[in-house]
Amino acid sequence: MPPNGLQLLNLQPEHFEALQQLQIDCYPTLDPRELMRIEHFEAQLTRFPQGQFVAILPDQPGLRNAPLTTQGRLVGQASGFFIDFDFNNPGHTFLQIVDNNRFGNHDPQGSYYYDADVSTHPDARGRGIGTALYNARKTLVRQHHKKGIVGGGLIPGYARHKHTLSPHDYVRSVIDGQRTDPTLSFHLRNGFRVRGLLRDYLIDDASDNWATLIEWTNDPKT
Ligand SMILES: CC(C)(COP(=O)(O)OP(=O)(O)OC[C@H]1O[C@@H](n2cnc3c(N)ncnc32)[C@H](O)[C@@H]1OP(=O)(O)O)[C@@H](O)C(=O)NCCC(=O)NCCS
Repeated sequence: MPPNGLQLLNLQPEHFEALQQLQIDCYPTLDPRELMRIEHFEAQLTRFPQGQFVAILPDQPGLRNAPLTTQGRLVGQASGFFIDFDFNNPGHTFLQIVDNNRFGNHDPQGSYYYDADVSTHPDARGRGIGTALYNARKTLVRQHHKKGIVGGGLIPGYARHKHTLSPHDYVRSVIDGQRTDPTLSFHLRNGFRVRGLLRDYLIDDASDNWATLIEWTNDPKT
């Protein structure tokens, strides 16, 4: 159940500044050159407004660190675009596929929604906001009869184990339930499966620059 009062809205210019701050708050280990900034949100809004979501909660004492907007505290973001994706040739980096965060590869006819970003403010995690953002994207994918959602998922628990475990063995152990990863466990819980690993996807110390190639399939029967 998402928290009381949660609003999921499409991106609007009044969210830009707060979103820029949310990126900084959510990605402390990511190379700052890979963070989304105001100019990127402007481009994303122009390309594909329906694909960009923000999560807002009423102002409350526990959320004083989350960026403030006129609508309340901005606690989450989900962004992406439609694209054809070939699982037989899946190699890519984050900045390549998201066109340096401007989403210039958006193709309204593309068969997948590419998951560029999903993030929840650290003070608002574990309350179902990330899941609510995925549900909004799944609804978009169903409405447009797309095949599903594809993306590169960080594995921020990996770097601590990199001297003893290969990324493949680490990911396998999370899938098998032997350990949890703050992001991969969330993706699995939201119905994603791991289709492979992407080396040097992002410059992220915590993930040792690795990412999972993840897919959620839009199965009309479910
Ligand atoms: C990954 C991330 C987006 C998850 O966001 P979130 O809002 O905490 O997600 P949810 O609350 O929906 O789910 C998180 C956990 O809370 C639990 N949860 C969900 N609803 C809950 C509720 N109402 N009450 C208590 N716990 C709940 C879920 O079981 C889930 O557990 P899991 O992680 O073991 O699967 C967030 O941790 C984040 O921003 N991380 C940093 C950025 C990042 O890595 N983004 C992904 C890039 S690929």
